[in-house]
Amino acid sequence: MQAVSKQSISEELRRRFESAGNVLVLTGAGVSAESGVPTFRGGGNATAWKGMPFDVISSARMLERDLPAVWEWFDYRRNLLGPLEPNPAHREIARWQKQFQQFTLVTQNIDGLHQKAGSKDIIELHGNIWRARCVGCHTRCDISNCDSVLRECAGCGDPLRPDVVLFGEMLPPGAFELAAESARRCEICFVVGTSAIVYPAASLPEIAKAAGAYLCEVNPEPTPLSDLCDEVLTGKAGEILPMFGRLQ
Ligand code: APR
Repeated sequence: MQAVSKQSISEELRRRFESAGNVLVLTGAGVSAESGVPTFRGGGNATAWKGMPFDVISSARMLERDLPAVWEWFDYRRNLLGPLEPNPAHREIARWQKQFQQFTLVTQNIDGLHQKAGSKDIIELHGNIWRARCVGCHTRCDISNCDSVLRECAGCGDPLRPDVVLFGEMLPPGAFELAAESARRCEICFVVGTSAIVYPAASLPEIAKAAGAYLCEVNPEPTPLSDLCDEVLTGKAGEILPMFGRLQ
């Protein structure tokens, strides 16, 4: 591992970045921290709701027991997120989508800020807070412009739930497999703003590394993944990622 200050990108990474054809980026809550989104663990302030830790209120068990309470929690989070804007890290990643022949953005975030920055075809491993899903027919609907969200499916009348992966639930069908396939093919894998402890998302950089990719972490703090990385850029994503834009 080669630790470098946030002011510099190694010659090695610069060379690979300029010649790469296939790049994958995995993001976590840290990429949105500079936009004002609280992270769950490192660096930002942990979140709790009415005295309940987030992994209790955001759980499959809570959904079964008290769907209205889960909606109340996600309504509160949507109101917090609504006014927030993408930061330079989101915008740089959106720019990379046009720069590389093959580009894959995989996110654990549900905040929709990558979309707001212009990124397309994002693999959302944990769903999206701006969508609802029917518990019966699984129809999805966009709730980004809704002041009050319908609670029943317009199609079958069954209850709607937030289209977010809750603790104790499986990832959206096929999402991880698609991401893993891209991880096996990428030449550079960037891991930005994640504590790299939640699986299966945290296994993607391991898959990429095992397949020969150059692994680069961007985080102000070390993570369990840091030792596996070829390069660690220590600092904030919103300050570090734009440095790549200045390479050209
Ligand atoms: N730039 C880059 N990284 C940052 C910044 C920043 N400005 N600020 C904080 N970080 C880093 C922290 O050091 C930490 O390592 O972001 C990471 C955030 O970690 P978590 O809060 O654990 O978030 P994440 O890794 O996305 O969590 C994974 O866990 O709670 C579930 O479903 C939830 O998707 C989430 C998953």
